[in-house]
This record gives sequence, structure tokens and C-alpha cells, in this order.
Amino acid sequence: MDTLESLATQPFQSLVGKLEDRTARIGVIGLGYVGLPLVLLFSEQKFKVTGFDIDAKKIQVLSRGGSYIVRIPETEIQAAKAKGFTATSDYSHISEMDAIIICVPTPLNDHHEPDLSYIVATAQAIAPHVRAGQLIVLESTTYPGTTEEMLIPILEKNPKGLKAARGDQHGKDTFFVAFSPEREDPGNDTVARRDIPKVVGGLNPEASELCGKLYGTIFHRTVPVSTPAAAEMTKLLENIYRCVNIALVNELKLLSLRMGIDIWEVINAASTKPFGFHPFYPGPGLGGHCIPIDPFYLSWKAKEYDFHTRFIELAGEINLNMPYHVVASTAAALNRNRSSLNGSKVLVLGVAYKKDIDDLRESPALTIIELLQKEGAQVSYNDPYFEYVGRGRKYHLDMANTPLDNLEQYDAVVIVTDHSNYDYPAIVEKSKLVIDTRNATKGIRSPKIVHC
Ligand SMILES: NC(=O)c1ccc[n+]([C@@H]2O[C@H](COP(=O)([O-])OP(=O)(O)OC[C@H]3O[C@@H](n4cnc5c(N)ncnc54)[C@H](O)[C@@H]3O)[C@@H](O)[C@H]2O)c1
Repeated sequence: MDTLESLATQPFQSLVGKLEDRTARIGVIGLGYVGLPLVLLFSEQKFKVTGFDIDAKKIQVLSRGGSYIVRIPETEIQAAKAKGFTATSDYSHISEMDAIIICVPTPLNDHHEPDLSYIVATAQAIAPHVRAGQLIVLESTTYPGTTEEMLIPILEKNPKGLKAARGDQHGKDTFFVAFSPEREDPGNDTVARRDIPKVVGGLNPEASELCGKLYGTIFHRTVPVSTPAAAEMTKLLENIYRCVNIALVNELKLLSLRMGIDIWEVINAASTKPFGFHPFYPGPGLGGHCIPIDPFYLSWKAKEYDFHTRFIELAGEINLNMPYHVVASTAAALNRNRSSLNGSKVLVLGVAYKKDIDDLRESPALTIIELLQKEGAQVSYNDPYFEYVGRGRKYHLDMANTPLDNLEQYDAVVIVTDHSNYDYPAIVEKSKLVIDTRNATKGIRSPKIVHC
């Protein structure tokens, strides 16, 4: 007969066993840039994975063994399917899962405030199907407190009256909850995904241990922290560190341009210092889902504590100004050629937010194109990763990719994203004027190049 104590430890021990022998069913909610690679990692480790997404097109593509992310080949999806991976929009399958990982978007709204609607909608969709002993992990980047203040209260409104396991109270009427931030750096092939240590913060020690065991199956190292809030703050610290340092080099670039100093040469020289310096590089503005957005999750939360996050605000101000600087520099360069931006033909090279990736989110290129158009320029773009740029949350371009021929027809070519497959010497040779925001033309000597 089961003692009270053994009943209490059963769900925990049962999940530990299932994770160890790979019989645990893993559910990943949100099959985007974060969720889909996670599906593949768990599948490689022989787990049966179910992916959940509200985007019917994504479910269709995955169900026929296709991929919608350039760097994920279809063969990897097909290999996962052969190991039992299925994709669905039907949340009733949540009850079959042993561990559920939430990777839905966390953008900012039009007032630059956190938009947690995706997390809320996901929690509401999961709640009716929560089962005792399940582990539910939030991976979406967010402000400290989201897991405990937002996610758990919704999950606890489940029809079975199950509660999140707190302190040492865990048993047959509880489920486990943790936060574990995603640390992927898209396009960075220098560190294998499984070599990036995974921070885990559970609501109680058992949740932390289960979360560590879950990710320990696909990552070489897990790093436990004491609470979900500490894990949430860890992710924000990492991104704020980048955001602030990028703003610093952006500001020093503006000064260096006035002083006639090559900031890239300076950064490379400073990088030779074996300690105390980590290089960050200037650019046309911040892009991607993380660096331009996540710091403001913390600024917003800080206000609840009468706290003003000045570094974040200042960095945001400098970084947001960079696309305007690119447009002003293009206008000034055209002016020196006795042309005006108004009426000029301008080609923007690269619209992805960084090199060699197929991600447009928050890309400074979109702002730069809109600003150039506002000044009356006839703008075209080229990007091997995007045949068409339509409408996004903050832009409406409706533009098709322009082939890279007849470069001489443009009054200016603006390098916004330095994709590796561009032939920069040829581009400089054929163009009348090149505005280089990324030091892509390093080593090429030509009066046609303007660094900005
Ligand atoms: N992309 C990155 O490199 C990266 C890195 C670190 C952290 N993050 C964070 O990870 C989270 C996810 O980012 P992403 O880049 O994968 O976003 P994404 O937009 O590529 O993918 C999110 C997916 O969630 C789906 N979705 C939205 N609401 C849903 C719901 N209610 N139920 C099921 N699916 C739903 C969307 O359809 C989409 O497929 C964000 O919080 C982001 O800040 C992203």
C-alpha cells in the first residue's frame, strides 16, 4: 500500500524515470525560431514530441515534412517525423504530454509596453487540459515575475483544481512549473546549440530538478537558479548588457566619424586586450526579436517599483536613432555628388536584421527604407533571403526583391545587412556611391565608399 509520503513523491519520481528512459512525451508550444529547433533536439534524443501552434500554415508545412525556416532543412523535419514528431493546433493533446515548453512571442505593443497576450492565450488554452505531475516550462523572454504572477494563476484555474507545486508541497494534485530562458543566437555557428548552458529556475526544488533533467537530455550543461524570477532576470541582464554596449559603440562611432577615426580599427585593436574588454560592433540600428525589445520589458516592470532604468532608456534612444543617422548620411553623401535624396534611386542591400539569416523582425532596414521613401527616394532592395517584403506589425512595404544587376543605375547603394554571399569588391566597382553601415567593404579602397 502507498504511504502518504510515497504518494506525494510519485508524480516526481515518475517523470524523472520517463525523462531518463526517454518515454516522456514532450509538447512544444509555439513552433517558431525557438520552438522548432527545440522540437528537433528532443526528437534527436528519441523523445516523442508534439508541436502546438495556432498558425495553420505552419502545421500544414510540418505535417507534410516541410520547413519554413531557412536554416532548418526539410530532411531534419522528416527525420523527426520518423521518430514520432507530430504538429497540431489541437490543445486537447496537452493532457497526453509529460513536459510542456512554451515558446510563444513576447513583443512590445504600440506604446512600447510588454504584450503578454500570447502567453495569456497559451496559458488559457493549456489550463483545461493540465494534468497532475506535468512539468510546464515557460521559455518566452519576459520580465521577472511573469511566471508566478501571470502564468501560474491562469494555469491554476483548471477544472480539476490542480495547483502548481510550491515549497515542499507537491503530490498527486499538483503540477510543476519553471522558467528557462532561450539563449539562441541565430546565424552564430561558433557554438553548437547543445553547448549553450541552459539556465533553469523552478517554482520549487522539484520543479527545478525536473526542468534540469528535461534540458539535461539535450544540453550539455544546465545552470539552476533559485526562482523563476531569477531565471527571467538572467535573460534580461544578458540582453540589456548587449543593448547598452551596442549603444555605447554606436555613440562612439558617431564621434569617431566626426573625428576622422575608423571605429572598426579601434574596436579590433581594443579586442587584442586579453582581459576586461569584449567587442561590440556598431550598425544601422538594432534588430531581431530580443535586443530591441526585451530591455523594455524590464523598464516597464521597474516602474512598479518607482525605479527608472536610465541605462536602458539611454541605450534605446541612441540605438533607435541609428536608422535616422544612416538616412542623413546617405543624403549628405548624395549632396556631395550634387544630387538630392528626393528623386534619387537608392538600393538597400540586405533587409534581414543581421547577416545570413532569414529573419526580418524589427530590422533597421525596414525603418531605413521607409525613411528614404519619405524623403522622396525611389527605393529598391536586394536580399537573397527575402523574395518579397510585405506588411509587418510596424511596416507596410509591399516590395519585391530586385536582382543585383545594373548597379550603375542607382544613385546610392546602402549596405544595411552584410550577408556573406555578397561580392563586395564587385558591388563597389559597379556602383556610383556605396554607403556602408557595417564595414562590409573593409579593405576595399575607393572614393565611392562612405562609412556611416
Ligand atoms: N528568435 C530568437 O532568436 C530568440 C532568442 C531568444 C529568445 N527568444 C524568445 O523566444 C520567444 C519565441 O520567439 P520566436 O523567435 O520563436 O518567435 P516566433 O514568432 O518565431 O514563433 C512563435 C510561434 O508561436 C506561435 N504562437 C503564437 N501564439 C500561440 C498560441 N497561443 N499557441 C500556440 N502557438 C502560438 C506563433 O504562431 C509562432 O509560430 C520570444 O519570447 C522571444 O523573445 C527568441
